[in-house]
Amino acid sequence: MPVPSPDALPDAIAEGLAERAAELRATLNHHAHLYYVLDAPTLPDAEYDRLFQALQALEAAHPGLRTPDSPTQRVGGRVLDGFTPVRHALPMLSIRTETDTTAAGAQAFDARVRRELALPDDAPPVQYAVELKFDGLAINLRYEQGVLVQAATRGDGETGEDVTQNIRTIGQIPLRLTGCEAPVLEVRGEVYMRRDDFERLNERQREKGGKTFINPRNTAAGAIRQLDPAGLADKRLSFFAYGLGEVQGWNVPATHSGVLDALAALGLPVCAERAVVAGADGLVAFHQRVAALRDALPFDIDGVVYKVNDRVLQERLGFVTREPRWAVAHKYPAQEQMTRLLDIDIQVGRTGKLTPVAKLEPVFVGGTTVSNATLHNEDEARRKDVRIGDTVIVRRAGDVIPEVVGVVLEKRPADAGEPFDLYQRLQGACPVCGSAILREEGEADWRCSGGLYCPAQRKQALLHFAGRRMMDIEGLGDKLVDQLVDAGIIRTLPELYRLGLTRLAALDRMGEKSATNLVAALEKSKRTTLARFLFSLGIRHVGEATAKDLARHFGRLDAVMDATVEQLLEVRDVGPIVAQSIRTFFEQPHNREVVEQLRAAGVTWEEHDGAVADASPRPLAGKTLVLTGTLPTLSREEAKALIEAAGGKVSGSVSKKTHWVVAGEEAGSKLDKARELGVAVLDEAGLQALLAGGV
Ligand code: IVH
Repeated sequence: MPVPSPDALPDAIAEGLAERAAELRATLNHHAHLYYVLDAPTLPDAEYDRLFQALQALEAAHPGLRTPDSPTQRVGGRVLDGFTPVRHALPMLSIRTETDTTAAGAQAFDARVRRELALPDDAPPVQYAVELKFDGLAINLRYEQGVLVQAATRGDGETGEDVTQNIRTIGQIPLRLTGCEAPVLEVRGEVYMRRDDFERLNERQREKGGKTFINPRNTAAGAIRQLDPAGLADKRLSFFAYGLGEVQGWNVPATHSGVLDALAALGLPVCAERAVVAGADGLVAFHQRVAALRDALPFDIDGVVYKVNDRVLQERLGFVTREPRWAVAHKYPAQEQMTRLLDIDIQVGRTGKLTPVAKLEPVFVGGTTVSNATLHNEDEARRKDVRIGDTVIVRRAGDVIPEVVGVVLEKRPADAGEPFDLYQRLQGACPVCGSAILREEGEADWRCSGGLYCPAQRKQALLHFAGRRMMDIEGLGDKLVDQLVDAGIIRTLPELYRLGLTRLAALDRMGEKSATNLVAALEKSKRTTLARFLFSLGIRHVGEATAKDLARHFGRLDAVMDATVEQLLEVRDVGPIVAQSIRTFFEQPHNREVVEQLRAAGVTWEEHDGAVADASPRPLAGKTLVLTGTLPTLSREEAKALIEAAGGKVSGSVSKKTHWVVAGEEAGSKLDKARELGVAVLDEAGLQALLAGGV
């Protein structure tokens, strides 16, 4: 039945349709501007596509509604002011997209190809070159006599932008081809950003307190179309070749897969995840295989591409408008979606880090249903200005935890929540253990100060406590800690020392022998030093060296526990942040209780009067030494202990600040460095003299 044009419709309906079309045009043009010109999209691609298709459908049904400024009349991006336009020698085509993400999409394509080639039913299956659909920016690389002379974006397909300078910064793109002197060889492919490079970039942005990027694709596209190449310096981009443009004087292989092999031989990056398959079954199998692989790939893809392999057949099939009939893109579910932010929870990590987590109206994204997504930290939640009730964009790609990458401000309801304030939301207390939460200056994260008392941090605390340089409990590793905590056998550190043989031997994968060994190791660990004990408590900022300094300075545990910030500041190398952290730790009654229970369980060390220790001669106070090579009698550990006992520090590398290098047999580059910098070099005898205060 012919669809009536709006003129033939009752006025009210015609007006309604015209209004709807105008609305769609305005929305799409607005988002196209945000996307292409400002590189700051606020709508997920899938949503843009949905609106675009709605407008296309409306215009197809009512051609009278089609206007010259409709986004459907423009293909691809647009030329930015500032880049020199490049007219493509051969237009850069796009491929038709099969949006049916099931196997039927692949079957429909094969059926169409067979029909258009007029193949009889009993003709053998068509051979297809199948590859990934990379999610980046299409680029044409023009090589003349094997040398890269120009790189251009696709633009509207006819005219693109000259981005040669920016493209030259991509290490993967050869500036000269290997063994190719052809007058003209244009190579087409995709510039993209690997997920790890993207995550690293955003991690750096977060550390700097800067704006994070939405996804690798926008970041890559933005970087290439940046007028100032300086903005590219921190963004590592990659490239895959997938086709040809103009060619003069080069023997084009007879198949598409042959073309890709030839391009790889010229030194261009070609993705290894490709194949030649037969007929619809081959297409379906590839689509399924890649779907299972998608998360494990190091980069984003939004589908696979099927291409008739034989170039003679490609020519026979030809084009419809700007799309070849011999290729199709078969999509996968989108990796970004819009959904509503219902609430913000705060999670406590193994190290006490507090992470705001978005509770979402469940949404299907990146192949699974997502109802939680990370907001990373308070600053980032504020920079994105997320509020409860907002419509947000969620991204889930690869093994990366789903994240909220932005807010659709246009959709903010009048009753949206307040700007996010982590401290206020938690009323200052850890949601797991109720301990005070802290955010130190210069840190992006809030933390729970509960440490070993906080159940969320239990496993981490136990592993740290048992470590070799701490209480040195042999046999208490990852797996056992998991078992003990998960089974609820151990809730606090002191309970470790109450573990009985029977209880232990009953655990999975734990025989009587291992249980006996562990009980012995626990018993042995009770005799320790104050420094080790202090280090084992996992007080933030108290590492091995600080623990030793504290032990030496105060001599007794009670003195450390009761020290004021001022008194703590008197300890060598202890600054305000460390002093405050120690103070906060011992101010928590539950931490003091843990310490008392450990003492009651029999953990002991020798104590001394701090003043006496500090009065003992410290001939190396304030000095830094570097050890290299093998000394005749002292081991590395012994030498280190002696130097530290004399107040000195041992560093791993030689610099102008090094006071002495102590060199033994087979000393290497550190000795050369010492000579180069004019640092004094001693042998073991020289060190002994130093320790005796004789130099
Ligand atoms: S072939 C004539 N192969 O998808 C065929 N395109 O509309 C020209 N894309 O923007 C394209 N991966 O940048 C082809 N393996 C692949 C691709 C691919 C990604 C992009 C291309 C273009 C869009 C196709």
